[in-house]
Amino acid sequence: MSGLFLTLEGIDGAGKSSHIDALEALFQAAGRTVTRTREPGGTPLAETLRGLILAQPMDALTESLLVFAARRDHIVNVIAPALARGEVVLCDRFTDATFAYQGAGRGFDLAVLGTLEQWVQAGQGGETLLQPELTLWFDLQPEVAAARLAGARLPDKFEAQPVAFFQQVAAGYAERAKAPRFARIDADQPREQVWQQVEAVLRQRGFIA
Ligand code: TMP
Repeated sequence: MSGLFLTLEGIDGAGKSSHIDALEALFQAAGRTVTRTREPGGTPLAETLRGLILAQPMDALTESLLVFAARRDHIVNVIAPALARGEVVLCDRFTDATFAYQGAGRGFDLAVLGTLEQWVQAGQGGETLLQPELTLWFDLQPEVAAARLAGARLPDKFEAQPVAFFQQVAAGYAERAKAPRFARIDADQPREQVWQQVEAVLRQRGFIA
C-alpha cells in the first residue's frame, strides 16, 4: 500500500486541529497505519525550533529559515520514512502555512520561499518534490476566527496578531488553494457539519472507500 500525505491548513481559530482525532480513526478503521504530526514541530529538534518561532520576535527571513529548517528535520526523520512504510501521514500544517504566514502575512519574498521549498522538499535522488496529496483548507473569515480565539488561551506570537494580518494570511491561503490538491472546507459551520464536509472530500477523492 502506498503512503498518503495529507495536510490541514487554515488561519488560527479556523478549527482544523479539532478534526485530527476523527481523521485518524477514519483511516485506522480502513486498516491504515497513521502517523500524526504537526508543523512547526514533529521531531525533538523541530519542536525546539517551534518554541522559538512562536515566542521570539525575529525578522521574516530568520523566521522562514527556521520553519524550513524544522521542516527539513521533520521530513527526513518522520514524514519520508512513514510514507516509505506505506502509512497515512496526517500533518497539522506544512509549507502552505509558510506561504500564507511568512509570505502573505509578513510580506516576505515568495520567490525565496519557493527556492527554500525546492531545497527542503527535494528527494534524495533528485526525484519530484515532496508535496501533500491532499490539503484540507479550513476557510473561515478572520473576524469569526478572532472571535473564536478570544479568551480561549494565552495567544502565541501569531495568534496575538490583529485581524488585518489574518486577512492577508487568508488571502495567501486562497492563492495557494488554486492547486488541485486543495479541498476547501467551509469552516463557518457547526463542528459536525464541518466534519461531514471533510468525510465527503475523502470519499469523493477516493482516499476512503
Ligand atoms: P498551530 O497553532 O496550528 O500549531 O500553528 C502554529 C503557528 O505557527 C500558527 O500561528 C501558524 C504558524 N506557522 C507559520 O507562521 N509558518 C509555518 O510554516 C507554520 C507551519 C506555522
